[in-house]
Amino acid sequence: MTATAPGRTDRHYLMCEPVHYTVSYEINPWMDKTRFTDAELAVRQWRTLRDTYLDLGHTVETIDPLPGLPDMVYAANGATMVDGVVYSARFRYAERAAEGPAYQKWFADRGYVTHTAAQINEGEGDLLTVGDLILAGTGFRTDRAAHAEAQELFGRPVVSLELVDPHYYHLDTALAVLSSDRSDPQVAYYPPAFSSGSQAVLRQLFPDAVIATERDARALGLNAVSDGLNVVVAPGATDLAAALRERGFTPIPVDTSELLKGGGGAKCCTLEIRPEIRTA
Ligand code: ARG
Repeated sequence: MTATAPGRTDRHYLMCEPVHYTVSYEINPWMDKTRFTDAELAVRQWRTLRDTYLDLGHTVETIDPLPGLPDMVYAANGATMVDGVVYSARFRYAERAAEGPAYQKWFADRGYVTHTAAQINEGEGDLLTVGDLILAGTGFRTDRAAHAEAQELFGRPVVSLELVDPHYYHLDTALAVLSSDRSDPQVAYYPPAFSSGSQAVLRQLFPDAVIATERDARALGLNAVSDGLNVVVAPGATDLAAALRERGFTPIPVDTSELLKGGGGAKCCTLEIRPEIRTA
């Protein structure tokens, strides 16, 4: 085992309060528009998530929720920001299309340099920064051509990973970044969500990865947010929490069950702002 003791770093997040939350269309297997959704409960759970980040000493900014965009709460899909560069999202489904420009405007209004995507990509839902690499999901939402576009824009190697189970339609539902430490990046993932070739790539890149169980995956436990030490995770992902504790991480269970009805958890609600330019 080469893994070093985990270390926390300050994080800066963008979130969107789910005041317009509902499930009015179905674009992933978790969504059932005949089921009752409770926007007030979603807001309470979201606030607990936000307060958890604040209590951990992180910075949280918010974007105004727009009526008619119930999935806007899943801020991770809104864009991808690496080294201060913002790659806009371009959504696969018309129902979410207006979210891309809304998030891009948020960044542009604050003086960040933004790039309008030519290719379909759903932000950090499918583009996860781990150490020097960007892991990129495809198969359900983000096109492979977007992986090449992101590599060219960010100047970092982008590793394409093929998702094969519709329940895990975004990379961040099947893989969690635990530590982005460049000398010892660490992830957790659920192998059956990936094609066999992509599983082999993950084994090669992360031989010491935490392997999640089916129970963890079903609880959307991999949709977790780590600051390098504390890992905000769905309470149902008990095997994952035990594995994290064993590695020296501190799992912090936060219940986002209402937001799970839309197919998202903690990570989906959290877009990471990475303004700093990597040195050396
Ligand atoms: N209902 C949303 C969709 O299907 C959920 C998005 C979840 N976000 C994420 N980062 N995985 O697009």
